[in-house]
Amino acid sequence: MPKRIGVAVVGLGSIGKTHVKVLKDLEKETEFVKLVAVVDQIKAIAEKIGSEHNIQYYTTIDEVLRNSEVDVISIATPSYLHAPQAILAIEYGKHVIVEKPMATTLVGAKEMVSRAQRNGVKLGVIFQERYAPDIVRLKNDILKKLGKIYLVESELKWYRDMKEYYKRDEIAKSWRGMWNTEGGGVLTNQGIHTIDLMIWLNGDVTEVSGFIGNITHDGIEVEDTAVAAIKYRNGAFGTISQTVSMKPTNYQYRKIRVHGSDGFVEITDDKITTVAIGGKEELKNVTNYKEETITQWGDLHKALFKDFLKSLLQGNDFPVNGKEGMKSLELIKAIYLSSYSGQIIKLPFDINIIV
Ligand SMILES: NC(=O)c1ccc[n+]([C@@H]2O[C@H](COP(=O)([O-])OP(=O)(O)OC[C@H]3O[C@@H](n4cnc5c(N)ncnc54)[C@H](O)[C@@H]3O)[C@@H](O)[C@H]2O)c1
Repeated sequence: MPKRIGVAVVGLGSIGKTHVKVLKDLEKETEFVKLVAVVDQIKAIAEKIGSEHNIQYYTTIDEVLRNSEVDVISIATPSYLHAPQAILAIEYGKHVIVEKPMATTLVGAKEMVSRAQRNGVKLGVIFQERYAPDIVRLKNDILKKLGKIYLVESELKWYRDMKEYYKRDEIAKSWRGMWNTEGGGVLTNQGIHTIDLMIWLNGDVTEVSGFIGNITHDGIEVEDTAVAAIKYRNGAFGTISQTVSMKPTNYQYRKIRVHGSDGFVEITDDKITTVAIGGKEELKNVTNYKEETITQWGDLHKALFKDFLKSLLQGNDFPVNGKEGMKSLELIKAIYLSSYSGQIIKLPFDINIIV
């Protein structure tokens, strides 16, 4: 039997634990992967999870990179560590799968992409919503029935609490809410998935104008609310409104509406809630997809990890690669630049203007 791909997870916080769970599930369900090590800067956390699974644990990435059983480094540390840790892993010849945002700076993201290319290793970015069955269905089946796309609207209305989220514990306080460490607020952290989907569904963006502000979250630096108007290369327009200030909190939602000359589709959270084509509503709640099992938190991560590992095994391109991961980051940086400068920003722009 061929050797299983050895994976190590670095950063064992909220999402790193999901990586561990998903990789253990895939280890049981497939023949091609094995979780071989975990890393967290806090020894007690690394030790607990390492012992639970009877695998190596470390407190620094340097140690795990010297482990020859490790083929892939899965990065789930605070956002500002993604680029330096990914670059280090790539230089050690490891493949890297990294949480969003892939970096807090475009310079860092670009460096990750070029180093991965130079070292012949794969770099994947975790935009798991691209694996949501309804969104796949929209991309592959429904979009072409909508005619000429002229408008893509998106809204993200979430709530993030000062005490429960930004200042929850010492780890949260060490990176959340600050430009240097989180890289940005609602756009960079929560809303980047939606922005990635807007680009994935309707192509590249050529111009953007936006405003960002911190309106209700005293005590953090980054934006809690943002709006932007965008122009796509294919001529369509788009709108983005995002906030982490939504109250009452039980009203939180994310919507994406794609309008074409022949109809429109509305996605609410990850599900299609309306498809109206040719003047009539044709489908409602179409989540009758072959992979209906995708309903639990972690299932989309699992689908993405599986695809990444298969692309390693088969030597295929991984679709959510570093270049793809950079697109949403670039658009977000352009919104920041537009808000600060009061200008419309044309893309692609010189990344040295804004790191
Ligand atoms: N794909 C998604 O939907 C999704 C969801 C949540 C978080 N994320 C991303 O995952 C990343 C982590 O978020 P989180 O909420 O899990 O953070 P967290 O603060 O809960 O956990 C971070 C963990 O990393 C550890 N850590 C910090 N520095 C380290 C270092 N140098 N080496 C090893 N470990 C270190 C911390 O001790 C902590 O256990 C962020 O970039 C976030 O944007 C993605």
